Amino acid sequence: MSKNKIITNETCGKLYIAGEYSILTTGQSAVIKNINIFMNSKISFANKYTIFSDMFDYSITLEKTAFDKKTLQNFDKNYSLICETVSVMNEYLKLNSLEIKPFNLEITGKMEKDGKKFGIGSSGSVVILTIKSILSLYNLKISKDMIFKLSSYVLLKRGDNGSMGDIACISYESLIFYKSFDRKKISELIKKETLDKVLKADWNYEISKLNFNKNNLNCEFLVGWTKKPAISGDLVNIVKSSINENFLKNVENIVKKLREAIKNGDKVTIRKCISENGILLENLNKNIYNKKLKDLVNSTQNLDICAKSSGAGGGDCGIALSFNENDTKTIIDRWEKCGIELLYAEKL
Ligand code: PMV
Ligand code: MG
Repeated sequence: MSKNKIITNETCGKLYIAGEYSILTTGQSAVIKNINIFMNSKISFANKYTIFSDMFDYSITLEKTAFDKKTLQNFDKNYSLICETVSVMNEYLKLNSLEIKPFNLEITGKMEKDGKKFGIGSSGSVVILTIKSILSLYNLKISKDMIFKLSSYVLLKRGDNGSMGDIACISYESLIFYKSFDRKKISELIKKETLDKVLKADWNYEISKLNFNKNNLNCEFLVGWTKKPAISGDLVNIVKSSINENFLKNVENIVKKLREAIKNGDKVTIRKCISENGILLENLNKNIYNKKLKDLVNSTQNLDICAKSSGAGGGDCGIALSFNENDTKTIIDRWEKCGIELLYAEKL
């Protein structure tokens, strides 16, 4: 392979189908769906690091030694997430006895429109895209679990307060069932141990691919975008004190039932699970269901469709599962009248 070959990669987005907030507690589970709206990258070896993302209208250039421990500089604020990913990946390359060489990295597909983010996991996606880009540059093939661990490592090192469900889904590029690990414990391990040791440790999570049973079910997955950007980390800080044992138990029950219902193509149970999870979220904290998310769910009236908010709520997107093609058209019309845009649709 020639040294200057440009290699392309892509990563998807994600949305919660069930289990948000509850998943923040270790050992709880969630169902999370890949959204096939992609972020793309181009990477090639170079003499210096040049990194560009279309999120910002400038690129940064860094010396060959910029990621050395001794010369480690404060990265450009906008680019700190990508730079910290590069830094962890350089560590990882060293573990694999590979020579660290600079590169050009260009990232496009910002998962937003008119300056408003969709809220489908762009920050997790950019971390995984950077990881996949570097791996491909070195022709390294690693498991989806290792990609998940590496990207979790980057986010935990930065003090991220999330469940890592987003990157579990984006790493697997699939509908998944995710059981969360103890992030506090792994964060402590990151502070004390080498990357190698942390990656080799058993994190005690589960990620399993899920498939809707197509034999029994004719179902379309719909995403309604409220065009109101919300910041998950902030909402988590507001909502977390409302999370109690009862909520956790109820959501866990729903997620487990939903997992089986998806496998079996059991429409009645799927509908029940989505609606009940939505109600639990609405009752958890008033910040989750804003006006638009209420409109999004209320638009299902008398239709063979179930819907709920997705993720942290307060804006971003809601999801719906439609079991009737005419009803799909109706809800899209109703959403439009409320200023909700159909962002994504997929036959399951
Ligand atoms: O709004 P999103 O798609 O970033 O989802 C957040 C989901 C939470 O459970 C509220 C937080 C988390 O990190 O799991
Ligand atoms: Mg969100």
